Amino acid sequence: MAKETRKRKSDHIKISLTQNVQARKTTTGFEDIHFVHKALPEINKQKIVLSTTVFGHKFAAPLIVGAITGGTVEATKINATIAEAVEELGLGMGVGSQRAAIEDEKLEKTFAIARKKAPTAFLIANIGGVQLVNGYGVKEVKKAIEMIEADAFAIHLNPLQEAIQPEGQTNFEGVLGKIGEVARELDKPVIVKETGAGIAAEEAKKLEDAGVKGIDVSGAGGTSWAAVEYHRAKRHEKNFQHRLGYVFWDWGIPTATSLVEVTQTVGIPVIASGGIRDGVNAAKALALGANLTSLSQPVLHAAVKGVEETKNVLSLLIEEMRNVMFLVGADSIQNLHNVSLVIRGKTAEWLRIRGFDTERYARKWRN
Ligand SMILES: Cc1cc2nc3c(=O)[nH]c(=O)nc-3n(C[C@H](O)[C@H](O)[C@H](O)COP(=O)(O)O)c2cc1C
Repeated sequence: MAKETRKRKSDHIKISLTQNVQARKTTTGFEDIHFVHKALPEINKQKIVLSTTVFGHKFAAPLIVGAITGGTVEATKINATIAEAVEELGLGMGVGSQRAAIEDEKLEKTFAIARKKAPTAFLIANIGGVQLVNGYGVKEVKKAIEMIEADAFAIHLNPLQEAIQPEGQTNFEGVLGKIGEVARELDKPVIVKETGAGIAAEEAKKLEDAGVKGIDVSGAGGTSWAAVEYHRAKRHEKNFQHRLGYVFWDWGIPTATSLVEVTQTVGIPVIASGGIRDGVNAAKALALGANLTSLSQPVLHAAVKGVEETKNVLSLLIEEMRNVMFLVGADSIQNLHNVSLVIRGKTAEWLRIRGFDTERYARKWRN
């Protein structure tokens, strides 16, 4: 990998670990989603089952770690730690963009370590949509999949980051067509994910029509790539990017909003990510129709401390989900999908203006 790319990757990790890169004004919207507490849960908390099958794989709980890294020595350790944790907990994880290792085989081990440490966990390979526009095709994608013996392949969309970073690639012409080509040719499920700015209903529909098998909304309200680039620009005194990063810090569709848009539009599995920080919000995402939830930033912070800390962060989230399920009387993930929710505030207003039904969630108890 070119020295600059390695430096950039390591800057992303360093900045994410030491600076505030979370959305400031935009919130996920989960604060507008309310469960209806059940004083008569009529279930035994000890008997609640969180396991769920998505993409034909059984997860011990509907939780995965979103794509973070690869390509450097430090990234190898992070991938190894996360992989060990998700293997022990029966979850899944995505690796970061594998472009570096596709271009330089010496770096394959920085990603392959994930499969080594997680022989049975659900692993997701990763490449940027913009790479497909710039010459990557089925051959490179297959290489990425084989590198980690992946169960699925994620194509990430990051127009916000590309627009702000100085070395950004901003030609996205034809990206949907390329995604469709890859989705049709592969025998593994292709997931399209955003990276913190969300996916709208119209985009979700196009992706489903193109043959994509899963969508990770990765909405706004959590990690902001504009913020990461703001900090990078500051370090390197690139004034224009610094201002762009500042102005676009809170850009994007909030996670809960994006989730409703997407789940009401497509029939393929949906992953909720972007600012999921506790089991209550994760459970809200599932009740809104997500099949899996995912988080990155908190796991990165835990992963540099070790496997136990990483397992701890993930286990707490799972126990919090279980607690919510008890309090709404849902003893399975299937039943959690069917509990009543009230959507209020700015999230309800956005969805109403965009033509989505928000009251259907509140009426579920009548079914
Ligand atoms: C340091 C860092 C590196 C990331 N690198 C990638 C990547 O290579 N590919 C990708 O699809 N997403 C990448 N992401 C985005 C995450 O997968 C996720 O979509 C985003 O961080 C929102 O989730 P969060 O709010 O829980 O962090 C990265 C996130 C972080 C924090």
